[in-house]
Amino acid sequence: VRPEIACCGLVAAALAVASAATAQPAPAGDAARGATLFEDRCASCHVARGGGQGPSLVGVFGRKAAAAPAFRYSPALARAGLTWTAANLDRFLAGPGKLVPGTAMLIVIANPAQRADLIRYLATLKR
Ligand code: HEC
Repeated sequence: VRPEIACCGLVAAALAVASAATAQPAPAGDAARGATLFEDRCASCHVARGGGQGPSLVGVFGRKAAAAPAFRYSPALARAGLTWTAANLDRFLAGPGKLVPGTAMLIVIANPAQRADLIRYLATLKR
């Protein structure tokens, strides 16, 4: 087994998917670590595929805020006028209520490296 080759193939595939679906450059960060973090910190409310307590985050990277179908967003997020670029996702996860006062999303990820991994993972969640 050559783990470094499997690893690079995965990264290349993720990059190809991300760049085909959006004009934004893929964010820095490690999508595999982000997937683990997502299971720990996000999956209780957000599923990566399907529906849940929070809005689906499939396709959230590069999308306008509050645009998942069939989710009742807070008026705060619905009016925020944000697009989920890597920079805005980073600000949101660092302090959702600071970027969008009144948002119903309250989870804070204080560690910048963890935010980068999560955002890298979110960028792989394409329909
Ligand atoms: C306790 C439940 C809960 C957890 C845990 C949670 N969220 Fe959320 N999240 C929400 C809710 C509710 C909203 C909708 C907020 C609103 O309408 O103001 C949201 C909104 C979002 C949005 C904006 C979605 C959109 O369509 O505009 C992103 C991005 C997001 N969350 C990412 C995350 C990430 C990444 C994690 C893990 C680090 C996480 N959330 C953990 C409940 C949660």
